[in-house]
Amino acid sequence: MLVFVTSHKGGTGRSVTAANIAYRSALSGRPTCYLDYDFGSPTAGITFQIPHAVDGVEGAGPNSGGLHRYLRGEIPFPEQMDVWGTSEQVGLRQRPIGAGPLVLLPGQRNGSEFGFTNDIAKRCAELFLRLEEEFDLTLVDLSAGRSYASQIALAATATPTLRKVTARWLVFHRWTPQHVTAAADLAFEAGGILAMGKEYGHEPERLQESLRFIRTAVIDSRGPEVGYLDLAQQAFLRGCDTELSDLARRRGVGRTTLLGTVPLDPLLQWREQLISDHDVQAKIANVKTVDAIVNLTEKLFDETAWETV
Ligand SMILES: Nc1ncnc2c1ncn2[C@@H]1O[C@H](COP(=O)(O)OP(=O)(O)OP(=O)(O)O)[C@@H](O)[C@H]1O
Ligand SMILES: [Mg+2]
Repeated sequence: MLVFVTSHKGGTGRSVTAANIAYRSALSGRPTCYLDYDFGSPTAGITFQIPHAVDGVEGAGPNSGGLHRYLRGEIPFPEQMDVWGTSEQVGLRQRPIGAGPLVLLPGQRNGSEFGFTNDIAKRCAELFLRLEEEFDLTLVDLSAGRSYASQIALAATATPTLRKVTARWLVFHRWTPQHVTAAADLAFEAGGILAMGKEYGHEPERLQESLRFIRTAVIDSRGPEVGYLDLAQQAFLRGCDTELSDLARRRGVGRTTLLGTVPLDPLLQWREQLISDHDVQAKIANVKTVDAIVNLTEKLFDETAWETV
């Protein structure tokens, strides 16, 4: 399965949530890979704690380099990093018993956004096909907004062979009026995913069925975590929540198109990283956050979560 993660705004929590989904998917035994298609800022190596890939890889030879070089046709295949073994994070240095392979395909250091060409889309399609053969889940972290990365992914997945492969689109947003509006724009308005997909020959209904939203860093306005707030603030927060639910429903970003919600987590607030069970046991991260990520991971593979409502 190919899963594309995107957002209209920057800083939504798209990359760190997606990396954690990849981690949970691999822990559950599924061979998983994560592609850093955030061409302007390929920093996935930080989240996976791989020192020589913190902002992409340096590779300049005929057989080394990141996704940028591969897509430009400079190398035959992009570098693949085995996360178990190259990560410096405790608990990731060895593959846990029962876990599947977890592989990162990093971007190129000092790489930048590049324009769309048919050759790039063709190479991208070939790469997706190869990865689809090898992995149960291929997660592609796209640059924010109406990006070339999204354009390339939509063009690649519209090719006849890839059309047969299950592809899903996840649009991440924070729980604020600007973010809800922007997420709806990216999905449904001119130049957005559905419109651009249609241009490349995707069937609009099928593409829409494969698209879901994810809310990140959300404070539960009725949860115990707001207990420390002033009563007036609690009431205000609940009012905001109601208004946002209303806005989301009107813009097509409501419950029926929601894949899940990730709560605000103190660990993620301060640091982009994979949350291990050890972090939860040590009470550094909240169990609710991991539950939400595991739930999202399972829903990706649960056909009932993708039925049209
Ligand atoms: N659930 C959460 N709770 C608290 N902080 C979070 C949560 N999710 C993400 N963050 C933090 O928000 C910041 C932005 O997250 P991230 O980099 O994943 O977003 P992004 O949408 O990929 O951003 P960009 O557009 O810059 O690539 C990071 O510092 C991250 O650790
Ligand atoms: Mg990111």
